[in-house]
Amino acid sequence: MTETQNTAPVVNQRTSEFGEPIIEISHLQKSFGENHVLTDFNLTIRRGENVVVLGKSGCGKSVLIKCIVGLLKYDAGTLKVFGKEIKDLKHKELDHMRARIGFVFQSSALYDSMTVRENLEFPLRRQKHNKTKQEVKKLIEEMLDNVGLLYAINLMPSELSGGMRKRIGLARSLVLEPELMLYDEPTTGLDPITAKEISRLMLEMQRKYNTSSIIISHDMDCAKLTANRLVVMIDGVNYAQGTFEELNHINDPKVHAFFENQQI
Ligand SMILES: Nc1ncnc2c1ncn2[C@@H]1O[C@H](COP(=O)(O)OP(=O)(O)OP(=O)(O)O)[C@@H](O)[C@H]1O
Ligand SMILES: [Mg+2]
Repeated sequence: MTETQNTAPVVNQRTSEFGEPIIEISHLQKSFGENHVLTDFNLTIRRGENVVVLGKSGCGKSVLIKCIVGLLKYDAGTLKVFGKEIKDLKHKELDHMRARIGFVFQSSALYDSMTVRENLEFPLRRQKHNKTKQEVKKLIEEMLDNVGLLYAINLMPSELSGGMRKRIGLARSLVLEPELMLYDEPTTGLDPITAKEISRLMLEMQRKYNTSSIIISHDMDCAKLTANRLVVMIDGVNYAQGTFEELNHINDPKVHAFFENQQI
């Protein structure tokens, strides 16, 4: 089998470890007026693969994942998720596709007036109509146990710490058994120990459910732990990609800037 070639400086040679392509982005462009955010972005992510996206603040990382879930319309290029071109999807098809994707917001965005159990129950009831009451109960308890917060099942979000809210936010996405997870800065604002716990959890979920993930992060410890591959976004393109070790040793100051203070 021949490997697909990438145009980015570092070529990841290990794509065959993973399954079929889940996201295929080719020559993607997105501008807001004169602000050309994505200029020619290319990226393929396979089943079971964790890809961390690095990039300066404002470079377009969030715009990229918003294009992937159809929250923003791209101007040119192709963007396929689960083999389907996003811009061709009708409303209902887009809803179906979104049901297969988990999105972890930076703020965790829990429903404040619902208990932890209800926070998990709500999306489950809306999206998984075929589950019985017992199955829903079991699934919720299992998922809370996964994130180590079964004891918090009857608490309100206001009674949770920031790290607990993040873990509940993660559980709420994972309870829907998504094939693709999109994490927008999942560890930002957390202490290093809780950040590491969240990173470990992300890794565990990947292994358990063979989920593919895009992880947007400035947290290099999180990147080191969770990434099968890293992508450096500069000037709206996939400037460089490779494993943590490959990029850490690349002789390019623009890439190296992200790896300062890192020892391997
Ligand atoms: N809805 C929008 N309308 C106009 N401009 C937007 C919109 N969303 C994003 N932008 C612009 O697109 C650029 C990229 O924004 P984006 O939020 O993707 O940055 P980012 O890489 O996620 O940054 P950060 O690391 O700070 O979260 C910014 O210049 C921003 O002002
Ligand atoms: Mg962002």
